[in-house]
Amino acid sequence: MKSLAVFSLKGGVGKTTAAVNLAHAAATSGGRRTLLWDLDSQGAATLLLRAAPPPPAARVKARAVLAGDAPLEALVEPTAFPNLSLLPADRSLRRLEADLAAAAEPKAMRRHLKALGPRFDRIILDVPPGRSALADRLFRAVDLLVVPAIPAPLSAAAEAALAGELARLGADAPPVLAFWNMVDRRRGLHRRLVEAAPERPVIPAAAVVEAMAETRAPLAVTAPGSPAARAFARLWSAVEMALLRA
Ligand SMILES: Nc1ncnc2c1ncn2[C@@H]1O[C@H](COP(=O)(O)OP(=O)(O)O)[C@@H](O)[C@H]1O
Ligand SMILES: [Mg+2]
Repeated sequence: MKSLAVFSLKGGVGKTTAAVNLAHAAATSGGRRTLLWDLDSQGAATLLLRAAPPPPAARVKARAVLAGDAPLEALVEPTAFPNLSLLPADRSLRRLEADLAAAAEPKAMRRHLKALGPRFDRIILDVPPGRSALADRLFRAVDLLVVPAIPAPLSAAAEAALAGELARLGADAPPVLAFWNMVDRRRGLHRRLVEAAPERPVIPAAAVVEAMAETRAPLAVTAPGSPAARAFARLWSAVEMALLRA
């Protein structure tokens, strides 16, 4: 099993969008048994991928998991897509996030990922933005960070701040795969920034991406063959190569 977190210090840069499309690519074209773990209590990835309303037993199960009487795996739900499962962000699980971030149990995240390992080949975590104890724990537990960046003057500052955070972890820090998101090649600044880092995958700004909030499905399903869907497929290839090296 290999795990990655889609992370950024900034909100609204495309983390959830990338997590959902990458998870779907891993499950379908990659043929990997894939879990998307929605760690953001906003629950955007859960909203996009949840096939049905939470089952009535979900609350009871969540309580059992929090009490340590059931494995986290008990909360995994299937999605409408083959090979792709969801660990939803639920109000009843808020305490789990707090526990995962608690100083008393620095290895809890790693332990949970390991426990889910036999059932999944790829675990993709959608993480809330910003510095947090949870992010710190995650950095030490995952094999790769995938970081969306919007081509804007301040994105370099955010990337430098993240690099600083990771440098503090030394050898515990995971490798980073950054990509450009919401790129509009008609704009000079976008072209210049993208050309300055030609090795980085690029996702174009596209209406089909925005429409995911309504279609509630990955782009490979709703807009196959679109430039954005093809760009996510290339991003997945780059991610998979980085994971195999990690
Ligand atoms: N490549 C893109 N083109 C157009 N809109 C995008 C693109 N990527 C993300 N968006 C839109 O930007 C908003 C923020 O994206 P989201 O994935 O929710 O970001 P985050 O999880 O980082 O907060 C959403 O409305 C999403 O549809
Ligand atoms: Mg999000």
